[in-house]
Amino acid sequence: MEKNLQKAMNEQIRNELYSAYLYLSMSVYCEEKNLPGIAKWMRLQAKEEVGHAMKFFDFMVDVGAKIELLEIDKPPSNFSSVTDIFEKTLEHEKKVTGMINNLVSLAQKANDNAAMVMLQWFVNEQVEEEKTALQILETLKMINEQGPDLVMLDTELGKRE
Ligand code: FEO
Repeated sequence: MEKNLQKAMNEQIRNELYSAYLYLSMSVYCEEKNLPGIAKWMRLQAKEEVGHAMKFFDFMVDVGAKIELLEIDKPPSNFSSVTDIFEKTLEHEKKVTGMINNLVSLAQKANDNAAMVMLQWFVNEQVEEEKTALQILETLKMINEQGPDLVMLDTELGKRE
């Protein structure tokens, strides 16, 4: 694998695992706020992020690229509200979309068709990730994060499998 692409993919394994860590931290916040449904949603989101990291890991194994596991930063834990965590989720996913776009550019420059095909999955996934975070954020703003409506949203998000 071309050097710059390999470096960015190794960083992306770390970035996806950091995403998992970030969402786990948000899950802790929701548990503390007695919102078990949103806490579960965030826990599943974290699991999905580990899956994303493993997709990069498996691809790199398959093509014989050199994997280097990098240090993962401590995630923030100072959230001020559920709206705040979804604002940060959306902001984070937009950042990840930028990382995926950068990987696509590197794969194009390296003429690495296999990487380009693999990355297409992530391009589509990021559209979904941003859409979901935005939808939940809009709902939270609509209900002003209040009483029975928040409990209903918690129940709804807790149905995630
Ligand atoms: Fe792996 Fe939420 O993007």
